[in-house]
Amino acid sequence: MTQKYSITLLPGDGIGPEIMASTVLVLQAIAPKFDLELDFQEALIGGAAIDATGSPLPEATLETCRQSDAVLLAAIGGYQWDNLPRQQRPETGLLGLRQGLGLFANLRPATIFPQLIEASTLKPEVITGVDIMVVRELTGGIYFGQPKGIFTSETQKKRGVNTMAYHEEEIDRIAKVAFEIAQKRNKKLCSVDKANVLDVSQLWRDRVTAMAPLYPDVELSHLYVDNAAMQLIRNPRQFDTIVTGNLFGDILSDEAAMLTGSIGMLPSASLGAKGPGVFEPVHGSAPDIAGQDLANPLAQVLSAAMMLRYGLNQDEAATTIEKAVWNVLEKGIRTGDIMSDGMKKVGCQAMGAALLEVI
Ligand code: IPM
Ligand code: MG
Repeated sequence: MTQKYSITLLPGDGIGPEIMASTVLVLQAIAPKFDLELDFQEALIGGAAIDATGSPLPEATLETCRQSDAVLLAAIGGYQWDNLPRQQRPETGLLGLRQGLGLFANLRPATIFPQLIEASTLKPEVITGVDIMVVRELTGGIYFGQPKGIFTSETQKKRGVNTMAYHEEEIDRIAKVAFEIAQKRNKKLCSVDKANVLDVSQLWRDRVTAMAPLYPDVELSHLYVDNAAMQLIRNPRQFDTIVTGNLFGDILSDEAAMLTGSIGMLPSASLGAKGPGVFEPVHGSAPDIAGQDLANPLAQVLSAAMMLRYGLNQDEAATTIEKAVWNVLEKGIRTGDIMSDGMKKVGCQAMGAALLEVI
């Protein structure tokens, strides 16, 4: 029986529309093979939405997303919106989308493609075989804690404030997601915090520890965030699944991404307790190369694979896309960002066409 899904596309800014276009072609090629009917509708977010409506996340966009089965997002932001007040910045739209859809769990895999090992700045013997899943809490912590703002005292002195806070339920639900992911992977979970200094981290550590007996097959460890940052570079293979709060996860997931040397290859998934998830590349909108057919669409394509797997439960279709990416790399086809000697350099559209060919 044909499965129908409604998918909201948020191409956003910079290279977003280009990599989204290539990805939609891939999805359209995959769908009939697995008896899927994908119904796409496009909505505005980020700078594109600011220009059209004045808001980085128009209510209509949020509503369209809520009505759909999954949301595929490309990237937001660009120089021309960098100096707007915070409420009107593209980033605020992204944070609003996460909060509006209750997407508390952000999955960011950092997997090495053996074909691209030379692209990393680290030694091949350090990074060979790295396969890490960072599970980042996405709707709490210092990004959203109250009070926040820049306050002026009676003596006219300004004070900037953000609050790092977690309720125990917020910790429990992200820990549960992480334990379950670790269970399906190599059964090692490392929780990252700053419990030697921060009370909020002490609660985090206590709650994660308390949950461990429910997952006896998962080996749980804890690291302070500074040490974790160091260990990721020193010996990244020691990690399997990492769970951490919003800010630490923001930082460590960029670091983990760079181990692979090719941020243009990394997808992510943001999931809530119910409702549609958002699937997006880890990289940004790369305004410097926008509109020149230079962008690497593979992280966007792999985000579509994550959408099929985690958002629509279509594991086989997801695997087919991932294999196509693998095969194209095997053929030596590369966009500029992952180019090395002897390989064939192509643009965004040609990379998309190469995928269609192997599919
Ligand atoms: C990310 C980004 C965002 C974040 C920004 C653009 C708001 O860095 O997705 O990691 O800090 O979460
Ligand atoms: Mg970030």
